[in-house]
Order: sequence, then C-alpha cells, then structure tokens
Amino acid sequence: MAVQIALANHKGGCGKTTLASHLLWWAAKHKLRAHGVAIDPQGNLIQRIINDPRLQRERVYRANDWLELTYSPNAAPGGTFNADVVVFDFPPGFDICNIIQPHLWLVPVDGREAVDGLMTALRTMKVAAGGLGVYAVPNMLDGAGRIPTNAVRDALGKVSGVKVWPASIPDSGTIQRSAEFRAPTWRIPNGAGSAGDEAMQAFCTEVFRLTGLTRRGR
Ligand SMILES: Nc1ncnc2c1ncn2[C@@H]1O[C@H](COP(=O)(O)OP(=O)(O)OP(=O)(O)O)[C@@H](O)[C@H]1O
Ligand SMILES: [Mg+2]
Repeated sequence: MAVQIALANHKGGCGKTTLASHLLWWAAKHKLRAHGVAIDPQGNLIQRIINDPRLQRERVYRANDWLELTYSPNAAPGGTFNADVVVFDFPPGFDICNIIQPHLWLVPVDGREAVDGLMTALRTMKVAAGGLGVYAVPNMLDGAGRIPTNAVRDALGKVSGVKVWPASIPDSGTIQRSAEFRAPTWRIPNGAGSAGDEAMQAFCTEVFRLTGLTRRGR
C-alpha cells in the first residue's frame, strides 16, 4: 500500500503546494512511483508541475515515468494508486481534512496566524494506523516583516498533538522561482546547491526517511 502524505493548513499561501510538488519531484527523482492528488479545486499542484493542463476530475496526468497526478476537487479520489507514495494537496481550510486518513500530515506554517486553528483542526485530522502523526513545518518565517522563526516554533511547541519539524525552510528566491519554472529547486537555473535548494532537498530526504520509503535501497 502506498504511503500517503497530506499537506493542509487553514491559511492560504503558506507553502502547501510548494512542499507537495517538491516531495513528488524528489520521490520521482529517486525512482519511487509518485502520485500527486490535487484536492484543491484550483488544481495548483497540477498546474505547478505540468504546463496548463485542462483540469478534468479523476483524469490521470503523467508528468514522467515516475510521476502522475490526479485532479480530485474537494473529494477523496476513488480507487487505489499503483504508487509508492501519494501526496495530497488540500485547499486552504481544515473543513474537509476528514475525507482521507493519511500516514503523515504536514502543515506548513508561515506565521503566527497559521498556528491559530491548528488545535481545532487536530480534532478532524485523522492519521492512519501506524502513521507518523501531524507535523508543523515552519516555512518562510525569516523574510522581511515575518515573525521570527523561534517565536513561531515556541508557539507551535505548545500545541499538543503536533510535532514541530526539526528544520525550518527559509524564505528563498530559489524556492519562489521554482514555482515560476514549474521545476524543483535543483532543476532551475542556478538553483542547485543554493540555500533554498539544500533546505528543500534536506526536507524531502527526511520526510522519505521518516516514511521508511528510502530504506528500500532505491
Ligand atoms: N520557502 C519559500 N521561499 C520562498 N517562496 C516560497 C516558499 N514557500 C512557498 N513560497 C511561495 O509562496 C507562494 C505560495 O506558496 P504555495 O502556493 O505553495 O502556497 P499554498 O499554501 O499552496 O497556497 P494556497 O492556499 O493558495 O493553495 C508561492 O509563490 C510560492 O512559490
Ligand atoms: Mg496550494
């Protein structure tokens, strides 16, 4: 059975689609069969990886030999996937996060306001048996005008039932540009080896190590 990872937060623009797309690109690069599911009706996950597809419910889009995508607006996709990992990209809001029960929830947090609501959300966020729980992932907290990373990490640490991801992802021009290039940080011009790329690859590496998928020796 595929490992299921879901990205959610009640706040828009905190990095759900960015983290989801990088996890998929990273998995495919390491020859894991990866499947992305755009639960967000805007279909940003698909748009971020494949140039301008016509979004069609339940249609499977093939990005490359290892990466496929399904558009499943506001609903759990029917059937099962022939994949090692399935990554679900939710719209802002926690109201429909009970439609699936993944092994791991990742909640990107880009500021204090993204911390609010997490306690309520925990009542609806279900984790599959033997799963890894709910992790808050501090993202972009070091940019101008942002609340410093440590202050948000401290606030997150007080939310019971949520683990705080050990590393924080920086506000990075490389990560920003990856969205424009529809490519992972390591594939965009001058991206490979930058601080944003290293942080993103370290994040992906650790997620897949945690799931046990990279212990299969691929
Ligand atoms: N670590 C980062 N550094 C710089 N830019 C980032 C970072 N993470 C995300 N972004 C940028 O922030 C914007 C919002 O990110 P993204 O689309 O992933 O958020 P989202 O949570 O999926 O938003 P929505 O709720 O609208 O679906 C994008 O332009 C993305 O490139
Ligand atoms: Mg999104």
